[in-house]
Amino acid sequence: MDSEEEDAVLRVCRSRSLYRYYGVDPQGEVDAFEREFSAFLGIRHALAVTSGTAALHAALAALRVGPGQEIIVPAYMWVSVIAAVVNLGAIPVLAEIDDTFCLDPQSVRSLITPRTAGIVLVHMSGAPGDAPQLATLARKHGLFLLEDCAQCVGGSIHGQMVGTFGDIAIFSFQMNKNMTSGEAGCVVTNNESLYRKALSAHDCGYSRGKEGLLQLEDERSFGWGRGSRMDELRAAILRVQLRRLPQVIQSMQHSKYRLRTMLERYKQVQLRRVFDIAGDTSCFLLTILPDPVTARAINERLRAHGIVTSTAETSNVILEDYGLHIYFNIPALQKKIGTDLRGTPWTLTENRDSIHNYARGACPQSDDLFSRTQLLVIPSSLCNQDEEDLLAAFREVLETVSSPELNVGLSR
Ligand SMILES: Cc1ncc(COP(=O)(O)O)c(C=O)c1O
Repeated sequence: MDSEEEDAVLRVCRSRSLYRYYGVDPQGEVDAFEREFSAFLGIRHALAVTSGTAALHAALAALRVGPGQEIIVPAYMWVSVIAAVVNLGAIPVLAEIDDTFCLDPQSVRSLITPRTAGIVLVHMSGAPGDAPQLATLARKHGLFLLEDCAQCVGGSIHGQMVGTFGDIAIFSFQMNKNMTSGEAGCVVTNNESLYRKALSAHDCGYSRGKEGLLQLEDERSFGWGRGSRMDELRAAILRVQLRRLPQVIQSMQHSKYRLRTMLERYKQVQLRRVFDIAGDTSCFLLTILPDPVTARAINERLRAHGIVTSTAETSNVILEDYGLHIYFNIPALQKKIGTDLRGTPWTLTENRDSIHNYARGACPQSDDLFSRTQLLVIPSSLCNQDEEDLLAAFREVLETVSSPELNVGLSR
């Protein structure tokens, strides 16, 4: 961030019009951001909201998700994905991830029941999941496909942007994301009706027409809103951040692929499968190691070399320690805490035929990956010396430490 973001904020403050729909001198920042973001993705509608979590709620509410429905979600995600499903009274069904670290299409196929309403594909840790295959699968079974692109803003597969494969998609612009205004999110879709319903759900239960006037006649989008409208300040920052995004991604890609190219030489390191390097936003490096003991040993030695940046312990971790991204680390899911005193959604009669198993072991293929995969954050600000330091630390740990753990070949 630099003076461009500061100028954008000052421009809004000086207009004394911080609300998107009216004011003494409205700047139209949110409208402009929505236009610019939808043009960037190549999609018809964008709805800016206050967070990725709010975007998930608006998208699922627009899809009319509710009791009696099962929604397939990946074992590796962020807790908000499950929260959005549970908050609407539906049952989240956990599917395996594969070596893309996103939904395994084969696992999804095996979980479809007459109650399945849709699939949430989460493009995790910066790189896309198999959106083309999952979109085909969803269409074949009459299910919706929601893409969660919170961690993959600006990602693509062979030139098609993530967020444009399914029926609807969401983004987050929270501080850890590829572009940010601290907190914010967006819903995008090509479907006018879904857009109107999401608009209603994120606001006060009614859609809006031109000039931001509430449409009290548009019965198809009537509902109950959650008050997650975007403000002009954040939109002004996001417009600058969107212009910066290609440069941010390019920088992360450069750093990450220097590391990946070097790591390809080591037989004990398996790299995450990426469909298309050009479409990998590259904010994380995922390395799969032969077994949990070797993974821990390598991780600890890298940390001892100073490869750790964040006080929140999220920059260089073994995946199973990565908090609420992993299904078995979510206490409320483990305990099936309801959204009300009745225990909704687990106890609803509409959901009685749905199986809900969230205990560790429910997704063995994913559990295996969680236990032996190391996640390393790739900041966009690494200089050449930082990259050299990273390369040297990996080299030293993988080559010169004579440890029985490191002599294990990748046999799986
Ligand atoms: C995959 C995923 N989905 C949704 C969210 C929710 O976004 P927010 O934090 O903006 O509510 C996040 C944010 O961390 C995320 O990583």
